[in-house]
Amino acid sequence: MIRLEKVSKEFFIGGEKTRVIDGIDLHVDRKEIFGLVGETGSGKSTILRMMNGYIEPDEGSIYLMGMVLDSDSRYELVKETSMIFQGFNLLGNLNVIENVLLPTKLRKGVRKENVERARELLSFVGLSEFEKSNIRNLSGGQKQRVAIARTLITKPRIIFCDEPTSALDENMSYEVLKLLKDINERFETTLVIVSHDIGVIKSVCSRVAIIENGKISDLISLTPKGVAPVSYKEAFLSD
Ligand SMILES: Nc1ncnc2c1ncn2[C@@H]1O[C@H](COP(=O)(O)OP(=O)(O)OP(=O)(O)O)[C@@H](O)[C@H]1O
Ligand SMILES: [Mg+2]
Repeated sequence: MIRLEKVSKEFFIGGEKTRVIDGIDLHVDRKEIFGLVGETGSGKSTILRMMNGYIEPDEGSIYLMGMVLDSDSRYELVKETSMIFQGFNLLGNLNVIENVLLPTKLRKGVRKENVERARELLSFVGLSEFEKSNIRNLSGGQKQRVAIARTLITKPRIIFCDEPTSALDENMSYEVLKLLKDINERFETTLVIVSHDIGVIKSVCSRVAIIENGKISDLISLTPKGVAPVSYKEAFLSD
């Protein structure tokens, strides 16, 4: 579904050309939930941004859905993907359903079937009764679920998630991870999740690449542990 071949990227950092991504080979299978972990600055977000066509590698090739990602194919391929961020990236001056409809508005204008689909998606993420709510009045977990509904409206085949739960407490993280897992199962969406939280990766990913200084230091297969709600009391009593 996704393939990186000898991908490298350099940035000018402090006036010096620095190799931030250094010859990465990687593949992500269709319907897989793949994790990227590593220390801050190791290059995780840069890898994700190259996978979603936002920045171009200096060397090497990226393939999405069997096609090379280049200036000719970028628009068609990137249309099939979507992105979720740590900071939700919602518009505070729009209500919940208007935020969910935003990508369709940008593409072709809001149509009746889009509104119906937005309602279905809000129901899927458990926010039906918040359709007209102001974004500012939602909790962090609810905001991320709105962002996820918005992501789904374009029916992406791949969703890239950059620290999707880092701004959330444990129970809200659980809600979001469970939703990502449900999306993966129900819509057969391929997911790539960047996280510095090893617990997040262990709960949903089938494989994880550990990134160190722009290289893959290890590639580990996992049996996803599944996600469970956190009982604060049990967490204290279990040790
Ligand atoms: N557009 C850019 N211009 C210059 N340097 C950049 C740019 N984007 C990233 N970098 C640098 O590249 C390196 C890798 O950054 P990246 O954001 O990929 O790391 P990360 O692993 O996602 O870190 P974090 O966990 O803090 O989000 C860092 O040293 C960063 O400062
Ligand atoms: Mg990052």
